[in-house]
Amino acid sequence: MNSKKVKIVEVGPRDGLQNEPALISVNTKLAFIEMLASTGLKQIEAASFVSPRWVPQMADAAQIIRGVSSTADVVYSALVPNLKGLEMAIAAGVKEVAIFTAASEQFCQKNTNCSIAVSLQRIAEIIAVANTHNIPVRGYVSTVLGCPYQGDIAPSQVVALSSQLFEMGCFEISLGDTIGVGTPDRVKYLLDAVAREVPVEHLAVHFHDTYGQALANIYAALQQGIRTIDSSIAGLGGCPYATGASGNVATEDVVYLLQGLGFESGLDLPKLVATGHWISEQLNRANHSKVAVAMRQ
Ligand code: HMG
Ligand code: MG
Repeated sequence: MNSKKVKIVEVGPRDGLQNEPALISVNTKLAFIEMLASTGLKQIEAASFVSPRWVPQMADAAQIIRGVSSTADVVYSALVPNLKGLEMAIAAGVKEVAIFTAASEQFCQKNTNCSIAVSLQRIAEIIAVANTHNIPVRGYVSTVLGCPYQGDIAPSQVVALSSQLFEMGCFEISLGDTIGVGTPDRVKYLLDAVAREVPVEHLAVHFHDTYGQALANIYAALQQGIRTIDSSIAGLGGCPYATGASGNVATEDVVYLLQGLGFESGLDLPKLVATGHWISEQLNRANHSKVAVAMRQ
């Protein structure tokens, strides 16, 4: 592996849009995803097959996956919480899915209406069926550095869950700082602990920028050998079941950091900036990427 190569997993169409209160049309979402793909992104989380009662914005997931799945050389993945979601994703032609659980019992309950143990049973069912369709399964662990309901999270809990998901068959484990409370030393400590159980090349980081620490945390993660980073164009997003959580770190800001550090992401920064401004205008919201704002001036 080229240690200077970094993979960006763009989660804007899913994590970014899931919290938007006004319903966005399928055409706008598909145009957005197409623009993202034109920036060089190869990994785009396009939708989630969750209950539309829980997250109305994602009710059109099948139309989104159908609309994008014919495009070559880009993986459009979908988040699935249970077998029902997986079956709907497969029917729509999905090529990769992501599952999610949490390091915090209370967050898991609020987000998926079940305990961590039950979420793992659901994940086992998902992986078994996904395997029969040769669909790779990515795994998320949420609240790895703090929970809005429970506070601090023991790193040992994150280590245990991450290694369990990896052993169950997730090809990559994305560690989510869902409410953005982490700071670099804690990130280093956590990654050091998790990487003793899961090889670092199978780990990703997923920072929300609520406290403005995301780029510093990514810098720490890069130093720990992490080469897969989740981000969201224009810093879109927030989790509907994490009070006070803001958007993911902005893809444009991550790419600017990577360029400055001599890492290769293969992404076209001016095109990312244009895409971020476009979607921010469509949503009538401020662009949360500092790089995008600076580059427009
Ligand atoms: P529940 O209410 O316990 O589910 O929700 P249920 O099994 O009792 O079913 C209730 C109804 O939902 C039924 O419909 C089911 O058919 C339907 P009814 O008969 O009442 O008409 N249903 C579904 N419909 C569509 N797709 C499905 C599905 N499953 C059941 N997959 C459930 C349990 C897990 C479904 C619910 O809690 C849920 O959808 N939760 C997802 C919440 C969510 O999307 N959160 C945000 C994503 S996670 C995140 O953002 C964190 C991450 O970014 C990392 C980080 O930052 O930390 C990944
Ligand atoms: Mg998230």
